[in-house]
Amino acid sequence: MSEGLRPLFSLKGRLALVTGSTRGIGLAAAETLARQGATVVINGREPEAVHSTVAEGQRSGLDFRPMSFDVGDTTASVQAVDQIEQELGPLDILFANAGIQHREALLEFELSDFQRVIAFNLTAQWALAQHAARAMVTRGRGRILFTGSITAVLGRERLSAYTAAKGALHAMVRQWSTELAPAGVTINTIAPGYIRTELTKALWTDPSFDEWLQKRTPAGRWGLPQDLAAAVAFLASDEAGFITGQTLVVDGGLSSTM
Ligand SMILES: NC(=O)c1ccc[n+]([C@@H]2O[C@H](COP(=O)([O-])OP(=O)(O)OC[C@H]3O[C@@H](n4cnc5c(N)ncnc54)[C@H](OP(=O)(O)O)[C@@H]3O)[C@@H](O)[C@H]2O)c1
Repeated sequence: MSEGLRPLFSLKGRLALVTGSTRGIGLAAAETLARQGATVVINGREPEAVHSTVAEGQRSGLDFRPMSFDVGDTTASVQAVDQIEQELGPLDILFANAGIQHREALLEFELSDFQRVIAFNLTAQWALAQHAARAMVTRGRGRILFTGSITAVLGRERLSAYTAAKGALHAMVRQWSTELAPAGVTINTIAPGYIRTELTKALWTDPSFDEWLQKRTPAGRWGLPQDLAAAVAFLASDEAGFITGQTLVVDGGLSSTM
């Protein structure tokens, strides 16, 4: 390589916060961001899980740092961003990934459960990202990513609150991009299909759902958290600076086929 050329998609010197990164999609994304050179703040509600994830990452040579907080507590998450910036420096990348699920038939769905899912999957993400965006805009650079869902693109029963929140995130990135792009900040959504994680355990341990999913997905399998990670690292990179307001679907072709 000639002198002066740096590797593509390098995140060397960048600081990232990945919410919900003690396992699943968040952990795989955190590992890939760190492998690309970023310092990555690991988050979850359980301090012990956060510390053991950080220790394991550090043993593998990844620059992981701990920050436990409940993303659903908007005061705590705003304070966490401030603390990260004070202790580690400017936050370059926010991957607002943590999300919750509540499955119930539409006509049985309690309003309080709807409000709880919307408060976490939409309102709390909005507040966290708005706070991070304020600081990024003053610096003229930044990358914000949300975890959306193909359920925002394709309907499925028992997911009315989750779908409303994830669909709103997909719409929100389009709108936010109009106000953030002039300041050099991009915002995008990653929309996973069915990924084998703790969140979907009830589905992949159900033999009939498992069989249906593998037949229904052109790739013929469940997604793995690592299937999302490269997409996150790409959208977080300098090279993706002209991509904003978009949803990148990662679903093995599920939403492209009848
Ligand atoms: N798996 C799929 O098929 C799929 C499909 C579409 C979209 N998604 C979305 O992908 C994202 C990640 O899902 P996943 O499947 O990777 O889930 P997961 O394996 O269950 O991991 C969830 C992570 O979020 C953390 N977390 C949960 N509640 C939190 C809170 N209140 N504050 C901070 N951290 C919290 C968990 O740690 P603690 O529990 O210790 O806090 C854990 O680290 C979610 O937004 C989900 O909606 C997943």
